[in-house]
Amino acid sequence: MSVLARARVQLLAGNVADQIAAGEVVERPGSVVKELVENALDAGAHAVRVELEDGGKTLIRVSDDGSGMDREDAQLALQRHATSKIRTATDLIGVGTFGFRGEALPAIASVSRFELETCSDGESAARLRVTGGKLDGTEDSARQRGTTVTVRGLFYNTPARRKFLRATATETRAAVEALTVLALTRPDVAFSLTSDGRVLLDCPPAVRLIDRVHALWGGELADTLLAVSHRAGPLEVTGLVQRPAQARPAGRKGYVFVRGRPIRDPFILRAAEAGYRSTIAPGDRPSLLVFLDLPGDAVDVNVHPAKLEARFRDKFFVAKVVEEAVREALAPLGSAAPLGGVGGSGFGIGGSGFGAGAFEGGIGVPLELFSAQALGPNSEPRIPLLLQVFDTYIMFQTDAGVAIVDQHSAHERVLYEDVMRQLSGDGAPAQRLLLPLTLDFAPAELDAIEAHRELLSRIGYEIEPFSGRSIVVHTAPNPHPRFEAARCLQELVADLAGGRFGGWQNRLERFAATYACRAAIKAGQTLDAGEMRELIVRLLTATLPAHDVHGRPSMVQLPKEELERRFGRT
Ligand SMILES: Nc1ncnc2c1ncn2[C@@H]1O[C@H](COP(=O)(O)OP(=O)(O)OP(=O)(O)O)[C@@H](O)[C@H]1O
Ligand SMILES: [Mg+2]
Repeated sequence: MSVLARARVQLLAGNVADQIAAGEVVERPGSVVKELVENALDAGAHAVRVELEDGGKTLIRVSDDGSGMDREDAQLALQRHATSKIRTATDLIGVGTFGFRGEALPAIASVSRFELETCSDGESAARLRVTGGKLDGTEDSARQRGTTVTVRGLFYNTPARRKFLRATATETRAAVEALTVLALTRPDVAFSLTSDGRVLLDCPPAVRLIDRVHALWGGELADTLLAVSHRAGPLEVTGLVQRPAQARPAGRKGYVFVRGRPIRDPFILRAAEAGYRSTIAPGDRPSLLVFLDLPGDAVDVNVHPAKLEARFRDKFFVAKVVEEAVREALAPLGSAAPLGGVGGSGFGIGGSGFGAGAFEGGIGVPLELFSAQALGPNSEPRIPLLLQVFDTYIMFQTDAGVAIVDQHSAHERVLYEDVMRQLSGDGAPAQRLLLPLTLDFAPAELDAIEAHRELLSRIGYEIEPFSGRSIVVHTAPNPHPRFEAARCLQELVADLAGGRFGGWQNRLERFAATYACRAAIKAGQTLDAGEMRELIVRLLTATLPAHDVHGRPSMVQLPKEELERRFGRT
């Protein structure tokens, strides 16, 4: 008999099985924080406190004021498949607690020095100690109702896994993120996190999600968010999405929650982004907090060992509704394009809409729609009455119909042509700043600044290294009165460092396009008559007025014949 043939099928010892489960559930201190805080929330806690030492590598402690357990339950809870949350497989459908697998505590206890102290109403408190999955003992203890779990020396007995732990700062960040995600699900619960004695997170109980966002990230983000609230059939979409003008290429917050449970779902995030359409520059990533509520049988939450994913019965329906919800939230700003592209139903009155094709994309169309004298090279064009709609588009009559200009795309086009002239000529008129700006950048961004120093100075930014990651800006361009010099520079540099607008062959053109996109007025800004007039005059005298620097239309037209046809005048 060969050696192989003698290997017999055997049940694994419980301890080994727990360690294997730990491999799926417990990846790093942040995953321990996730599991323990979920348990605290499932136990009805009103306040949850997390303490870390050395990024959680030395110690993780999670304390709650939830229901606690009696001694017997506490011992049982440490066994595999022991759970109070479901009884039968059908309970899984629409399960409302975070936990249901009965795996987390035994998995964590099998790879650490673990201590559980707990007290439930009318019982005396107990303390259980487990080392590497082996119960060392149970003793009486004194504490109020609630539970405290302390995890020391994570992975002390699985050195191969311990080796994979990262630097303290990295592990701390992951743990803070794990708590942040859960704090978003329950604004009514207080959360705090201290790391080596420093308070990194402190959220008082709140009523509204926006207040929780404020406590987590401050007003700088919270003030840029709009509420979403939309229902389609069984699906309800709520949450917060960022105003288009404030979207940035980097550092966005993107979260999806299903039935109050955080999941990773890039597909849903992309659907939410699709709701922005052309209101944001390509590559900009708006912050998104998307909460989905739908019947329990429309989604399966038990498809991932750490429950980080969910499976929808109809994910395309969910995506479509999410896109609609975001578009609707942005609509009052006038910044969302109609569904189904130019000329789609979004333009309709009473939902009827102009038929597809009524509006042609601007590419190659509009020049002949303006009469020759309106575009004479020396004479100022005759400009008709201009109307700004949705703080985003400018409408006016032309010889051949009604033109609608996207103010951001149009301004981008105008600035691009200016900048190309400045880059190949004497540069732009710059303004010396009364108080020089000091700005901080990441190392990659500092490299990008160095590499583009000459081009930056030609468009008007005179920059000097300061110290460390700081630079000083002495002069700045001034393309329009609403221009924000610091923000434009930060966005421009982030784009250059991030390699955006990579489609441009020519480095000069790429730089000009990036700058034009960042410096241009945005959708959602109210313009006065003089500003509209200047923009339209400059657009009509531009070389390629009909498209922006990305090749998208900056103007669309409603031909007069189309109006006549629709009103039965022909
Ligand atoms: N902080 C706590 N307060 C009260 N009871 C708790 C607490 N933590 C755990 N328990 C009890 O211990 C049981 C086991 O917890 P464990 O996290 O291992 O499993 P679960 O939460 O049921 O499922 P999952 O493995 O999906 O998290 C829970 O079902 C719960 O009854
Ligand atoms: Mg659990």
